[in-house]
Amino acid sequence: MRRCWRGLLPAAVCAKAAADLKKMKARNMLRHGYGAVKAAAVDYKNLVTEDLLLRLLPQIELLTGHRLLPTYSCLRIYEPGAVLPRHTDRPACEISLSLALQPDPQVPWPLYVETLTGEAVPAHLAAGDGLIYKGIERPHWREAFTGTEMIQTFLHYVRADGPYAHLKGDRPEARPGQSAA
Ligand SMILES: [Fe+2]
Repeated sequence: MRRCWRGLLPAAVCAKAAADLKKMKARNMLRHGYGAVKAAAVDYKNLVTEDLLLRLLPQIELLTGHRLLPTYSCLRIYEPGAVLPRHTDRPACEISLSLALQPDPQVPWPLYVETLTGEAVPAHLAAGDGLIYKGIERPHWREAFTGTEMIQTFLHYVRADGPYAHLKGDRPEARPGQSAA
């Protein structure tokens, strides 16, 4: 399962979410340099992205064919030079959506996902587009960011009838940036 979906969110909704998150960053309401990416502001279970986590749940269930339980949302506002190291995610990310809220229109910055045969497949996401992938199985990464600013959110779910259903809501001690793409 690795597929790009176009237009999951209307452009105006993306713009509003991005604007709200930038205001939070300006007010030091986000953390910085925490987790895997040093050149980024980050937040875990932000009120903006938790709303998207729940509102997009029915669409993600339809697209994946699974009944899902939400675990957590995360976001990053990437800055110049940001690198997302190649990694896999923890079990709370059984099925993940990496959703572009504000890409840099001048600088394509794909998310790479490694296939079962070892091929690195780039996903180019415009605002509102999302990539659904199995983060705990497939390695994924981004190379160095040469743009100025890029805002992405990561919505994580587990299958309701799967081995990680007990992780609904994620563990309360989790912190931002631990495993999201
Ligand atoms: Fe990840």
